[in-house]
Amino acid sequence: MARVAVVTGGSRGIGAAIAKALQAAGCEVAATYGGNDEAAAAFTAETGIKTYKWSVGDYEACTAGIAQIEADLGPIDILVNNAGITRDAPFHKMTPQQWHDVIDTNLTGVFNMTHNVWGGMRERKFGRIVTISSINGQKGQFAQANYAASKAGDIGFTKSLAQEGARAGITVNVVAPGYIATDMVMAVPEKVRDSIISQIPVGRLGEAEEIARCVAFLTSDDAGFVTGSTITANGGQYFT
Ligand SMILES: NC(=O)c1ccc[n+]([C@@H]2O[C@H](COP(=O)([O-])OP(=O)(O)OC[C@H]3O[C@@H](n4cnc5c(N)ncnc54)[C@H](OP(=O)(O)O)[C@@H]3O)[C@@H](O)[C@H]2O)c1
Repeated sequence: MARVAVVTGGSRGIGAAIAKALQAAGCEVAATYGGNDEAAAAFTAETGIKTYKWSVGDYEACTAGIAQIEADLGPIDILVNNAGITRDAPFHKMTPQQWHDVIDTNLTGVFNMTHNVWGGMRERKFGRIVTISSINGQKGQFAQANYAASKAGDIGFTKSLAQEGARAGITVNVVAPGYIATDMVMAVPEKVRDSIISQIPVGRLGEAEEIARCVAFLTSDDAGFVTGSTITANGGQYFT
């Protein structure tokens, strides 16, 4: 039977590439998104992958949304926590709202989603959970105290849950991308982009598909011995 996979923020960018890669690997895929109906509709039209709208920051909405996906596709085997946002500001200008928005989506959202699939995975003795962190959660970044804290938190969360899930057949891992050519990065002025690229030893931005292939491996049945790890995919920009 096909594995059932959920990709949060799966309608655009890296998440869309992940959803397509898991579909190509034979999974039944559901993609969630937060608000951009147009992008979600275009993604479904292109791929046939059903999209579901709610905020990962809302625990009850996650409970209801996951129940709906399981009613539509069956029990969830694979969860990819990809939904994420930035609200950048130097710390002396960062507002409590900017802090909470980022933590609520990037870290509490990961708790909300994972907590709602964990019991079922434990009962069925199988699960694959992958969270998309960031190079900036590993090394920190000017004007991203909120984002770096959330993404570093995702790594600590993962290392803890990997220990709890191991005997239940659940693996829990992180992929930490460097700079990837998504809308977010392509929207910055060319000069800034060139300066980012100059810091990447391979001399280019990453492609969303390169992150998706890491996720496809970690979520495969073959990756049962890999848990608690972080795959760093950043073109050599930072080593942990
Ligand atoms: N791009 C990079 O260079 C880079 C580097 C390192 C790490 N990352 C991480 O990779 C992940 C994907 O990044 P991306 O660049 O592909 O982002 P993106 O193009 O901005 O797409 C973000 C996706 O997340 C969804 N989303 C945002 N907030 C949400 C919420 N509260 N609830 C549910 N869905 C929500 C969006 O939905 P809507 O379409 O409805 O807005 C969209 O589908 C993020 O976690 C990001 O931090 C990205």
